[in-house]
Amino acid sequence: MIKSSIMKKQEIILSYTIHETTDSLSSLDAELINDARKATEVAYAPYSHFHVGATALLKNGKKLSGTNQENASFPVGICAERVLLSMIGQLFPGEAIETMAISYHDFNNTISNKPISPCGMCRQAIHEYENRTQHPIRLLLTGMEGEIFEIADAESLLPLSFKGETLKKEKDQ
Ligand code: THU
Repeated sequence: MIKSSIMKKQEIILSYTIHETTDSLSSLDAELINDARKATEVAYAPYSHFHVGATALLKNGKKLSGTNQENASFPVGICAERVLLSMIGQLFPGEAIETMAISYHDFNNTISNKPISPCGMCRQAIHEYENRTQHPIRLLLTGMEGEIFEIADAESLLPLSFKGETLKKEKDQ
């Protein structure tokens, strides 16, 4: 006999915009992508040869870039996105981020023309910053050339995310 209980299916849909080139972006977005691509030049990635650059536009109008910083002890290395977030957290604590553009130059391949996808740890870190500032961070994902994926916020890339509110004690609620 089947026990009666209620169940339902839930669906989470990711919708995003694909730009064939920077031509369909605002000049400010195109500038952020240009900065992220340029930042790859100063990445420290002697082990993977995969240079990542991330550029953020803050609410106060400032732009900052970060790159991946690797280490001979591989797990010690830090992704470009988290280098950038740490920098912003230190220099402009609590300042909202409007947009983050991310690009890469893969020296193992002659072309880098597919949009980069931030790793899970970086998605969690970017989303933490969204929660901290109560402000969505629009993502522009690209390579040194080719398509750009425009995604409304980091939360969309991390469905059912683990949030700080889960750690709240009863007395805080
Ligand atoms: N990496 C980033 O900096 N950001 C990403 O979104 C993906 C991966 C770095 C980590 C490592 O230094 C290299 O790329 C290869 O995984």
